[in-house]
Amino acid sequence: LKDSHTMTDTHARFDFATTAKPDIYKLLASTVMPRPIAWITSLDAEGRVNAAPFSFFNAVSSDPPLFAVGFSGASDRDGKDTLANIRTTGELVINLVSEELADAMNITAIDAPRGTDELALAGLATAPSEHVKAPRIAASPVSYECNVFQIIETGGAGTVLLARALAVHVRHDAFANKERLYLNPSNMRLVGRMHGTGGYSTTRDEFEIQRLSWAADGAKLQGAE
Ligand SMILES: Cc1cc2nc3c(=O)[nH]c(=O)nc-3n(C[C@H](O)[C@H](O)[C@H](O)COP(=O)(O)O)c2cc1C
Repeated sequence: LKDSHTMTDTHARFDFATTAKPDIYKLLASTVMPRPIAWITSLDAEGRVNAAPFSFFNAVSSDPPLFAVGFSGASDRDGKDTLANIRTTGELVINLVSEELADAMNITAIDAPRGTDELALAGLATAPSEHVKAPRIAASPVSYECNVFQIIETGGAGTVLLARALAVHVRHDAFANKERLYLNPSNMRLVGRMHGTGGYSTTRDEFEIQRLSWAADGAKLQGAE
């Protein structure tokens, strides 16, 4: 860490011009958290299904509905199979991960040889999609059928995918009120990725903050009570 950071009384500042790449990864992955996990199912050119989790992931637009996913390089081969499949087919399904699926998700992250059916290894059933050929993971509470919106070549080892959502499957019991599209997080029990090599969080520790409006709350905030 010698030259990469400077200290003040309250903070250490790391300048990414001089920070080693693995250290930048550590800092990002341990501070931007919890991260949702895109458990991506995709097909290779022969139609074989592949599944793997990606936590450099989030929804980044709703009109159009877009997700961003960050793929790191794969040291043992030329990129992740998931990314290769998405480049070949232009399609993917993003499944979300619940607590009871976390171990199965972890199995699908194994560095298996290309063409290995990780879903079979994890004992997971699939169900068909409509817009895309890749199947969804049947037990996942939420699955988005997606196609490629844009693939951004970063110039570094990483590649950023922008995926457009075409449809979403939501398990019936995830709804508190289907007509109003109110969902109940405690029925989905989605997990997030935390720091370190094996850190995860649940989504059970919730608190609420009411939104403020200038009309109702502005004067109070300005100390004019
Ligand atoms: C919870 C979790 C999150 C992960 N997030 C990412 C990620 O954001 N980007 C990435 O490139 N790899 C990530 N990985 C590693 C990939 O899942 C792993 O390299 C996997 O073997 C890739 O599979 P594939 O080659 O079949 O696509 C993550 C692994 C786990 C367990």
